[in-house]
Amino acid sequence: MKLVIAIIQPHRLEQVKKELYNVEVNLITVSEVLGHGRQKGITEVYRGVKETGNLLRKIRLEIAVNDNFLDCTVKAIVKGAKTGATGDGKIFVLDLQECIRIRTEETGSLAIG
Ligand SMILES: Nc1ncnc2c1ncn2[C@@H]1O[C@H](COP(=O)(O)OP(=O)(O)OP(=O)(O)O)[C@@H](O)[C@H]1O
Ligand SMILES: [Mg+2]
Repeated sequence: MKLVIAIIQPHRLEQVKKELYNVEVNLITVSEVLGHGRQKGITEVYRGVKETGNLLRKIRLEIAVNDNFLDCTVKAIVKGAKTGATGDGKIFVLDLQECIRIRTEETGSLAIG
């Protein structure tokens, strides 16, 4: 199992969700976060407005998937989030040791999706 963590631009969230649903990835955690990349957040365009400040608003997605879903999950995020501009975001892939559905106490692949 893998844990996919993606930091994306807030205005791309709806498109990323749509692309994820298209590949049947439906379980997702979304947080509002602050961050900056290589440009140190100096200036980026958000909803047509230039935003200035060291830390800019971003969306963090967490998606736990079985290994055979990793590729399509990453591709869906890229497809939904990419504009070609700096600040488009980044995807981190981590090995995931365990997953437990609390209600049923199922574990691993049974619990994840
Ligand atoms: N190495 C990192 N560690 C932790 N968070 C990061 C890292 N790189 C990027 N991020 C997070 O991802 C967000 C988007 O990063 P961003 O797309 O600006 O990356 P970048 O490396 O600066 O690439 P680009 O040159 O395309 O802008 C950042 O605001 C930050 O929250
Ligand atoms: Mg950047």
